[in-house]
Amino acid sequence: MSVHKVVKKVTTHVLYEMKLKGEKIAMLTGYDYSIARILDESGIDIILVGDSASNVMAGFETTLPITLDNMIYHAASVVRGVKRALVVVDLPFGTYQGNSREALASAIRIMKETGASAVKMEGGREITESIERILTAGIPVMGHLGLTPQSIHKFGTYVVRAKEEEEARKLKEDALIIEKAGCFAIVLEKIPAALAGEVAEAVKVPVIGIGAGPQVDGQVLVLHDMLGLNLEFSPRFLRRYHNLHDEIKGAVQNYIADVRSRDFPNEKEQY
Ligand code: KIV
Repeated sequence: MSVHKVVKKVTTHVLYEMKLKGEKIAMLTGYDYSIARILDESGIDIILVGDSASNVMAGFETTLPITLDNMIYHAASVVRGVKRALVVVDLPFGTYQGNSREALASAIRIMKETGASAVKMEGGREITESIERILTAGIPVMGHLGLTPQSIHKFGTYVVRAKEEEEARKLKEDALIIEKAGCFAIVLEKIPAALAGEVAEAVKVPVIGIGAGPQVDGQVLVLHDMLGLNLEFSPRFLRRYHNLHDEIKGAVQNYIADVRSRDFPNEKEQY
């Protein structure tokens, strides 16, 4: 029997078992209670309260402006809607880089104030001290390598990462380093598929890809992108499962027309 079919609650250990058995892990972002309930009922394994909330919920151009308080608000809302999935929360920009004490304090706030099960951090060898310190408090850490949107001003673009040999070698080393530091899983964003496959084979922990091809242990997408809420964003790796933008627009236009024509509310829709 598949691991994901029998578990009542997804834990980091369950994900590890899924990798061992070759079962793919399905992860999506979520930022609020109502959607989290639907994702959880659908059987998603991991809900990532991503700092992409900065883009898709708050309308900022980058993930940099979102605050720890904002992330805690989103994450606590998600946790209230979830019974089974593992909820992982991004540590936002400026709350962990270069200061492992601050990293631990930020992670503790997330765990205490939201009830989530793990945190995610972007970066390789440069954040190992923070990863290790957070783990001393018993907080599981998910890593994130490749395209790391919190460093957008360092790289200047959102193009595919690690295409050159030198960067690919460094990424592979970083994956091994953060695995050794204790990460329970690693997200690989927008890197060549072959490289992602090599990393997934080299580490024992599950590797979840976004724009990283099929040879990894699971996939993640930003919910708003896969549901087609945001039609302007269409990178090659994105598969759109719906066109919610047009569906919502159509429903709202019907409502406006009904109000204007006095069709709504009708006799049954009043007291
Ligand atoms: O913030 C986010 O949504 C993410 C995913 C793209 C992995 O980090």
